[in-house]
Amino acid sequence: MMSCISVVVAIAVTALWQGAAAGHTLDLSDQAWQLQNLPLNISVPGQVPSHVHLDLHDAQVIGDPYFGLNDFNLRWVALANWTYTTKITGLKRANTSDDLLTYILFNGLDTFADISFCGKHIASTDNQFRQWRFDVSDAVRSCASERPELGVSFASAPSMAEYLASQPGAETWPWGIEGWFEFPHRAFIRKEQSDFGWDWGPAFAPAGIWQKAWIVQLAPDEVYVPNSALDLYRHGQMNNLPPDQTADWVLNCSIDALNSFPKGAEMRFTVKDATGSTISTSHLTNITNAGDVITGSATLDAEKYKLWWPAGMGAQNLYNITVDVVKQNKTLASVTKRTGFRTIVLNMGEITDEQLAQGIAPGNNWHFEINGHEFYAKGSNFIPPDAFWPRVTPDRIRTLFRSVVAGNQNMLRVWASGAYSPDFMYDAADEMGILLWSEFEFGDALYPVTEDFLENVRQEAVYQVRRTNHHPSLALWAGGNELESLELPGVNASAPEEYDRYLHEYETLFLETLLPAVYGNSRSITYIPSSTENGYLSFNWSRPIPIIERYNNKTEGSLYGDTDHYNYNYRQAFNISTYPVGRFANEFGFHSMPSLATWREALPEDELYFNSSTIMLRNHHYPAGGLNITNYDNSSKGMAEMTLAVTEYYPLPDKADPIANFSSWCHATQIFQADFYKSQIQFYRAGSGGRERQLGSLYWQLEDIWQAPTWAGIEYSGRWKVLHYVAKDIYESVILAPIFNQSSGILDVYAISDLWSEVKGSATLGWVGWDGRLLNHTIGESESTTGVPPSLVGQKDVQFTIGAINSTLLTSFNMTKLAESESFNATECLFVANLTAIGTPINSKTTKTYRHTNTFTPTPLSSAALVDPGLSIVHKKGDGAFEVTAKQGVSAWTWLSVSDKDASIIVSFEENAFLLNKGQTKLVKYSIISGSSPGWEDRVTADSIYGQGQRD
Ligand SMILES: *[C@@H]1O[C@H](CO)[C@@H](O)[C@H](O)[C@H]1NC(C)=O
Ligand SMILES: *[C@@H]1O[C@H](CO)[C@@H](O)[C@H](O)[C@H]1NC(C)=O
Ligand SMILES: *[C@@H]1O[C@H](CO)[C@@H](O)[C@H](O)[C@H]1NC(C)=O
Ligand SMILES: *[C@@H]1O[C@H](CO)[C@@H](O)[C@H](O)[C@H]1NC(C)=O
Ligand SMILES: *[C@@H]1O[C@H](CO)[C@@H](O)[C@H](O)[C@H]1NC(C)=O
Repeated sequence: MMSCISVVVAIAVTALWQGAAAGHTLDLSDQAWQLQNLPLNISVPGQVPSHVHLDLHDAQVIGDPYFGLNDFNLRWVALANWTYTTKITGLKRANTSDDLLTYILFNGLDTFADISFCGKHIASTDNQFRQWRFDVSDAVRSCASERPELGVSFASAPSMAEYLASQPGAETWPWGIEGWFEFPHRAFIRKEQSDFGWDWGPAFAPAGIWQKAWIVQLAPDEVYVPNSALDLYRHGQMNNLPPDQTADWVLNCSIDALNSFPKGAEMRFTVKDATGSTISTSHLTNITNAGDVITGSATLDAEKYKLWWPAGMGAQNLYNITVDVVKQNKTLASVTKRTGFRTIVLNMGEITDEQLAQGIAPGNNWHFEINGHEFYAKGSNFIPPDAFWPRVTPDRIRTLFRSVVAGNQNMLRVWASGAYSPDFMYDAADEMGILLWSEFEFGDALYPVTEDFLENVRQEAVYQVRRTNHHPSLALWAGGNELESLELPGVNASAPEEYDRYLHEYETLFLETLLPAVYGNSRSITYIPSSTENGYLSFNWSRPIPIIERYNNKTEGSLYGDTDHYNYNYRQAFNISTYPVGRFANEFGFHSMPSLATWREALPEDELYFNSSTIMLRNHHYPAGGLNITNYDNSSKGMAEMTLAVTEYYPLPDKADPIANFSSWCHATQIFQADFYKSQIQFYRAGSGGRERQLGSLYWQLEDIWQAPTWAGIEYSGRWKVLHYVAKDIYESVILAPIFNQSSGILDVYAISDLWSEVKGSATLGWVGWDGRLLNHTIGESESTTGVPPSLVGQKDVQFTIGAINSTLLTSFNMTKLAESESFNATECLFVANLTAIGTPINSKTTKTYRHTNTFTPTPLSSAALVDPGLSIVHKKGDGAFEVTAKQGVSAWTWLSVSDKDASIIVSFEENAFLLNKGQTKLVKYSIISGSSPGWEDRVTADSIYGQGQRD
């Protein structure tokens, strides 16, 4: 009989992660596969790894899934059953020895698969995120065929979800608890939750052998390593708690086996640095050998290892650690993992007396500490970069991550309802210094807690934690998305009498199942049950589950956790009293249109207008409770929010050519988006010096899964929206931030730094007319609340010192008083602030000069008396740059764009969407993200917010 081995372990063989190549291994990618659906009479070549949609597209059975309305037209693919088959070549037959063991190893099956070998049923699977391994030794022995057939039949995931939800006794939840976009009941199945549709993405619900797969054949004394866990932590370190930074390191290594490790097996290790020099080599001690998994540990002398740091905080020092399992000098297995020495903790401890004395509000901390040091986390949220993961290459991730680092981001939250990050993604993050806050794939729903479901989830979690734990970029494990901020309050509101039961179920899954899967396989990483939360009420290792969550048990005046902020009332966008005050902002945003060039990849020419059917139907931002995507009334909500915001705040696009006008409108929605995010980011960063001691800003969302109106800062094609440029600017280490309080009428001007030591500098603050003249306006005591002398004429220099990771209030203007002054006309001027400061970059020995410019406009630009800035642009070949000049007036939102004719090249500029004063020239360098287009540099144009409103 074939047996399914239930211990779930995994491998992701990449260049940097090598298991021992024991036995005879057949890579199933090298076999000739057929993809079939007999009722539909389809039979085409298939690939491994792949998805059905991709193979059908390659065979020209279907068009590009991302074109036009194909997400609707291809529903039949998701609703059908599909079978992949291959007749295996190269299989070793058990002719000499009956002891030959044969396994099939799948790194991932998406999702409901029946596996057959030589006509016999082997097993059925029901989890996209588990690694599956099956012992088929008997099936190989009894198979008469020279080339046995391997079959993998996938059942439709939407149909399976429907079926599971309709079973007698299946869990139910009040209406609205499951965020439901296109296909319902995703909570019942362990598959990428956004495959059933999301507010930023399509619902393809793909199926297929989506990860690598192998046949492994072993002699009785051979083993094969399908997965392993490597943990580096400080002596005495326990999850969730800050460790002793002077302690030595512990290396703990745990290796899984197909077949089993013999009694008396030993473990040896070697640590090599980046030059290949051996730093340490010895035996692991405290060996425990359970046959299918062997574990040992060693102490590593702290002084011998350089620390790994995130981008902007030091070097990304990496080491290769090789662990061999040996018996009588014979190496049975060898694992090499590239890793780094760092500790990262999410500190949620109670605010100490020392912190209270510094003016920090009581409650709890909620911030990250790298190598014992708190830091300001700057970044965004990562969603699946494609509806079809098999076409996401390491190159694509590296290209995206280069934009992340160029955008001054040091952390990404890898959102909890996509897929677990592939090793190549962690590898790139390890090299580039991007911290990946990682999450289990549960979000915007509550989940069943049947024994089968919990065991399925436990296996998934153990596999993923072990696979990824060695990556220094791994920053956190969170149970799921928005569960404590949306789902629990949601059931409490709609079914209060059942709240206790739902809460108990929540804790069964997120505290009693996932927490032990993390703590049982790692001592180096923090676990929290839900992304947006109020942290814990208490944490105590003497309890079996150390965490007791706080939920809503808050004390007035105290601050606890991290915050979400979405407000689609555009009139409130710049009202800072609507922004949350918390320790960390992990989600906030507003949607915008992608650029014309990106739309062209997905739309026929006759759909290139603002509310065309396809564009409307790709806007999935519906009113609460309205979930029928094919209803235009619903789709129009999100479209209207964008246009109303543009109308309120900026000059309206007015181009004669309809396509140019569409392009201008797309751009205008991006300006509002960026403006809104900037307003929030600078508010949160100013909070690093406030009583909230705010230490993180991760906006929603980094990139797009396809071409659609979404919250992304980077389009599917890799083009930067206005947002990514503006975030880059406002994530600089030392910035100026004018923050206007609409209720009090006070404009506060802050200098903010996230450096770890004091920064000294000066800022020039002044009011400038749109025509570029310095306003000769006297600012008296009555208009100033902090120390600006009454003699100030037009412009003022302020000297300042900013403490480590802190903000300093430079001055305040009473805008209500200023508006009363006869010589001040709000529509004619803007506030401009320029900063120059000297500081020491984090972990650096030399100082650096920092510069930053920021502005505030006392009236929306829609009603400002804008002046033609007289922009000119010259390509400076020798400098690899463009020289942009504003000859006649102030140029706001100055925007360099690559011509429509050059859609085949994607370029990022060092700066964009910037302010130019009258007479100012800026040299703007660029980098090519991808592609090419000869002569594109000569067709780059510059425009401004003034030009947006001009009829061309
Ligand atoms: C898919 O397979 C399932 C299980 O065998 C079956 O019940 C269902 O009718 C099939 N669906 C289609 C569309 O063929
Ligand atoms: C680790 O080993 C891999 C594979 O041999 C090699 O490419 C890489 O450069 C090594 N990295 C370090 C940091 O030693
Ligand atoms: C080995 O186990 C002993 C006893 O549990 C413990 O004191 C020691 O620290 C362990 N060694 C390592 C390297 O973990
Ligand atoms: C293992 O190798 C060492 C050194 O090469 C040798 O001294 C020892 O006898 C060997 N042990 C076995 C069990 O073969
Ligand atoms: C709320 O928190 C306080 C401590 O701050 C604790 O004493 C109390 O038991 C908590 N209440 C609940 C219902 O958990």
